[in-house]
Amino acid sequence: MRKHAMNLPTSTSHDTLFLSPQDVASLVRRQGLVNTLQGLAACIEHDFLRWPSFDKSARLASHSPDGVIELMPIADAATYTFKYVNGHPKNTALGLSTVMAFGVLADVATGLPLLISELTLTTALRTAATSAVAARALARPGSRVMALIGNGAQSEFQALAFHHLLGIDEIHLYDIDPAATAKLARNLQANPDAAGLRLRVFGSIRDAVRDADIVTTVTADKTNATIIGAGMLRPGTHLNAVGGDCPGKTEIHGDVLRAAKVFVEYEPQTRIEGDLQQMAPDFAVTELWRVLAGGQTGRDHAAQITVFDSVGFALEDFSALRYLHETARALALGGTIALIPKLDDPKDLYQLIKPAPPAVAAPLAPSGTQQPAMA
Ligand SMILES: NC(=O)c1ccc[n+]([C@@H]2O[C@H](COP(=O)([O-])OP(=O)(O)OC[C@H]3O[C@@H](n4cnc5c(N)ncnc54)[C@H](O)[C@@H]3O)[C@@H](O)[C@H]2O)c1
Repeated sequence: MRKHAMNLPTSTSHDTLFLSPQDVASLVRRQGLVNTLQGLAACIEHDFLRWPSFDKSARLASHSPDGVIELMPIADAATYTFKYVNGHPKNTALGLSTVMAFGVLADVATGLPLLISELTLTTALRTAATSAVAARALARPGSRVMALIGNGAQSEFQALAFHHLLGIDEIHLYDIDPAATAKLARNLQANPDAAGLRLRVFGSIRDAVRDADIVTTVTADKTNATIIGAGMLRPGTHLNAVGGDCPGKTEIHGDVLRAAKVFVEYEPQTRIEGDLQQMAPDFAVTELWRVLAGGQTGRDHAAQITVFDSVGFALEDFSALRYLHETARALALGGTIALIPKLDDPKDLYQLIKPAPPAVAAPLAPSGTQQPAMA
């Protein structure tokens, strides 16, 4: 997708494009969900291939007993982005999403914020696109069956990305909450983009994963859970482990990682946040970008179990924000907001709060003239 491959030009306008969740939903409807996932995957792959051009760091996390709030900055020579995102698994009981996010894209040359956007819906789209990019590089060619463990907010996006970007045509569903599984099945059955996708609901994780080529785990529980244990995956499975993304929050037993070849986004961050947090500091992993760039091998043989220990890296949000910025401008979506003051003299910020000059007093009447009496 060449049109998403270029850096953004420097802007001199003061206005910031604002995209609400409704604006991003309109963008997805106008583009089509499959086209959007493909566009995001192309941006993510393109940016992963430019890995050395980015100023990267592990995200900054503020932990609390029930969740985490994170800031995810990254920049290349032209564009700076950050995402604000939380993770609060108990939120759904309060009527709030587990994951909520927004982000900013700014011009490196001037520091001007060019875009402020919702990123809750966008995070689900970019996570599914990233999972598909990784699986295209790591899963066995010809993979057709995927188990999807955790059927909450992220799950439809994972299902549709793997159907269209990988060729998955059968999905095995499992969630500890049957209402979540019913919701996922309902949403997919009503979606023309999921036509041809067979859905099978299972009563246990063990049964759901038994015959799967790919297993995607997207559960939310702030604990060291072990939803995938040793011996549950058949040889050759690709495990797309998405839900273990925070210290003290894992999904996969250490023995599964020991028996597999493990791939990560940005190693310094995944060692702290991923299922990898259980392993010794010298446990071998491969960064995904090296496989995409052809410098390192992905899967070594058909019987190997591969694990993408996904935690979500700032570069995926960089790709998503530049995709949104370019596409929203092309479709004339969103509004503009004045985040930055417009000043006649940029050295005179004080002009914004300068007291208004006193009202001009009425001229005094010449002496000797009679004033009307006040009522
Ligand atoms: N790696 C990334 O880039 C990335 C991006 C977004 C979200 N996430 C993570 O993905 C997870 C899912 O996010 P979401 O927005 O879908 O959350 P959600 O709360 O909407 O859904 C999570 C689902 O997991 C189910 N669940 C919990 N424990 C389970 C278990 N042991 N077995 C089966 N199902 C179980 C819950 O019932 C719920 O339906 C979260 O942990 C989130 O932090 C990761």
